[in-house]
Amino acid sequence: MERITKTNSPAESWTEVILIYKSALKEIGTKLEILNDEFQLVHRYNPIEHIKSRIKSSESIVKKLKKNGYESTIENMVEYVNDIAGIRVICSFSSDIYRIAKMISSQNDIKVLAIKDYIKNPKPSGYKSYHMLITVPIYLSDRIVHAKVEVQIRTVAMDFWASLEHKINYKFEGNVPEYIKEELVECANMISVVDEKMLNLNEQIHDMN
Ligand code: GTP
Ligand code: MG
Repeated sequence: MERITKTNSPAESWTEVILIYKSALKEIGTKLEILNDEFQLVHRYNPIEHIKSRIKSSESIVKKLKKNGYESTIENMVEYVNDIAGIRVICSFSSDIYRIAKMISSQNDIKVLAIKDYIKNPKPSGYKSYHMLITVPIYLSDRIVHAKVEVQIRTVAMDFWASLEHKINYKFEGNVPEYIKEELVECANMISVVDEKMLNLNEQIHDMN
């Protein structure tokens, strides 16, 4: 890994901070892959369909700080922007979501800062997903830093819904017509029914073997 020298130059600090968040995504990504591989070995199935990760763009970081009334400084971004490093874990079944969440939070080096369970308490939009804000230690050459990562865990169906809803919101710049909002809530409810039925089917098949 690139050697980091302490400096007060803002440009260097920015590069250093981004390096830390990128490392945090690698750490969590590897942990999830290991859990998935082990699960495959023991239970003969993969709870994780796929994983997507991203670093928030500098424009979005500045926009979020501004929206919340903070100056655009490195300190403020580290303190107040919790989703600079984001990882999305897509599962087949809703039961896998809680299984994954439990496996992550029980690891000794991971600290859970906050949980938002939008599956038990969906958003008025219909959005469903399980969010965890965690920290993971990053071992640098001269110190350990605890980097925040926003983890979103959801089913394939919930992800399908969230992508379309996001696209619609973007298209209407947030002013989505009421009838479309209603249809989206209806779709979210249908998706919950499908998720439930698929889970039941899977359990029935599992019991047959
Ligand atoms: P942000 O300022 O958007 O990060 O929200 P927050 O800090 O209040 O946290 P929250 O847990 O509500 O949302 C975090 C992230 O979840 C968002 O950045 C989106 O990726 C996702 N999300 C939350 N609500 C919705 C929603 O209604 N629709 C979609 N498509 N995504 C959502
Ligand atoms: Mg966000």
